[in-house]
Amino acid sequence: MPRKTDFLIIGSGIAGLSYALKVADFGKVLMITKANEDESNTKYAQGGIAAVMHSPDSYEKHIKDTLIAGAGLCDEEVVRMVVSESTLGIKELIEWGVEFDKNEKGKFDLAKEGGHSEHRILHHKDITGFEIERALLQKVRTHKNIEILPHHFAVEIITQHHLGEEVTRRRNDIQCFGAYVLDTKIGKVETLLSKITLMATGGAGQVYATTTNPTIATGDGIAMVYRAKGIVENMEFMQFHPTSLYLPGESPSFLITEAMRGHGAVLRNRQGNEFMHKYDKRASLAPRDIVARAIDNEMKLSGDDFVYLDCTKISKEEILKHFPNIYAKCLSVGIDITHDYIPVVPAAHYLCGGIKVNMNGQSSIDNLYAVGECSSTGLHGANRLASNSLLEAVVYANRAAKHAVEKIKQIRYCENIPDWNDEGTAAPEEMILITQTRKELQQIMSAYVGIVRSDIRLKRAFDRVKILYEETETLYKKTTVSVKLCEIRNLINVAYMIIKMAMQRKESVGLHYSLDYPSKNKLLTDKEE
Ligand code: FAD
Ligand code: SIN
Repeated sequence: MPRKTDFLIIGSGIAGLSYALKVADFGKVLMITKANEDESNTKYAQGGIAAVMHSPDSYEKHIKDTLIAGAGLCDEEVVRMVVSESTLGIKELIEWGVEFDKNEKGKFDLAKEGGHSEHRILHHKDITGFEIERALLQKVRTHKNIEILPHHFAVEIITQHHLGEEVTRRRNDIQCFGAYVLDTKIGKVETLLSKITLMATGGAGQVYATTTNPTIATGDGIAMVYRAKGIVENMEFMQFHPTSLYLPGESPSFLITEAMRGHGAVLRNRQGNEFMHKYDKRASLAPRDIVARAIDNEMKLSGDDFVYLDCTKISKEEILKHFPNIYAKCLSVGIDITHDYIPVVPAAHYLCGGIKVNMNGQSSIDNLYAVGECSSTGLHGANRLASNSLLEAVVYANRAAKHAVEKIKQIRYCENIPDWNDEGTAAPEEMILITQTRKELQQIMSAYVGIVRSDIRLKRAFDRVKILYEETETLYKKTTVSVKLCEIRNLINVAYMIIKMAMQRKESVGLHYSLDYPSKNKLLTDKEE
């Protein structure tokens, strides 16, 4: 007999955890997560969470900054809604036990990051995500209606396709009945039936060779929804964080938070000269797309593998107070950031696109919601404003939960779902076929679909990824499912969508910069803003 739950939540980052706390008083909640309970992008968030707390800041200023960063492609209604619900979202996080740093006067110690016109980033030293994950998990563990299953990997969502009906992208009545889930400890795929399913599977930074995202960030939820014929959008907008620690061989790359630039750190080339003023009047605090492109350009001009971040003007006392984790990490590899410049490179960091949702977090598939980095709400447009993603997750978890607890009243379980069919499959003979494909894919994406793109680079990537796709689908049909196999399949689906949507966009805007359509976002003349 398949296992049944009212709410199935896939993912235990900020999106899944906050939603769980909101719906748990209205039904049984089963949360599955593919690794340890706390492993997520959330856990590594450093800078903090953007919110309007008091004057001189205002909702209008935060809205304006978000719209400017989004380069004309944000949904203004969504931006207004998320920003105006930010204060409430923070209040709830605090009620759930999250501790944000305060100053000597007992007020929140608000930081500033690129693209923000005011100090509005709440943080917990430089480990904000770790603190959020800690507090929310602690709260979730004590709720009697919530069960968490770690090391359970969602393979596919269940739709009419599994009942033998033809499901096409044109069909507008696709329904989600739950998910097929691999218990990775015993290698068995179980059927989990749910009335409502939440996709909270996070981002897909692992599609690139250099990324700040942990190895779990393989775009699984987006790929599952795409295969189930749900709507996915804006995948061309992958955000590259300008400053990850240059440490060849280390993966994922360690992030050097933008908040350091908010505290006065500046970017310098290998000769020690500042260069950001050439690109934007906001210099080192320009929005991320501009800073990452400028660094990329400087590295291409000089042939250097990195540029420097100079934090030496920040006092040692400030560094130890605000950035103890970064200080310790750099010291562990021989860099004393109070004296030495930090070698940094851009790294794939945040996926602005994903599963298209409405203002209640509903996807195009009935009974399936998506919240957090796997979703595309319209908040970020062509480029996310720093620290707006944790905020988006909290606000949308709340809205999706409110909607779902009403909707669930009309939903019944689908009873006749077949078990997972693994007929004709066998254990893989050679894991190299999977591991090497992941490396190849990451190399292709980094070389041709990175910060600066062109028609010819995209075409080359498309042709190469097609080969990997065909090889992997052949392998998938005859191989027993495993996490590694499913992840590479998902990564290939995600790469395909990024390339395809990048090819369709015949302009440079926000994070999508093409040498063939340079007009809207000129590389060197963004100063007029
Ligand atoms: P995640 O936190 O990534 O959680 C996804 C969950 O889904 C994980 O538990 C994962 O194991 C699970 N999962 C995935 N696939 C499956 C599957 N197939 N089956 C079962 N479970 C699955 N944003 C900010 O706003 N401020 C910051 O300061 C900030 N700093 C960042 C620093 C770093 C280094 C990184 C990587 C990101 C940062 N971000 C920041 C972005 C932000 O952390 C993420 O966008 C946000 O945490 C995403 O939350 P989420 O709940 O959507 O996904
Ligand atoms: C950072 O701390 O620089 C990351 C902030 C973000 O990704 O929003």
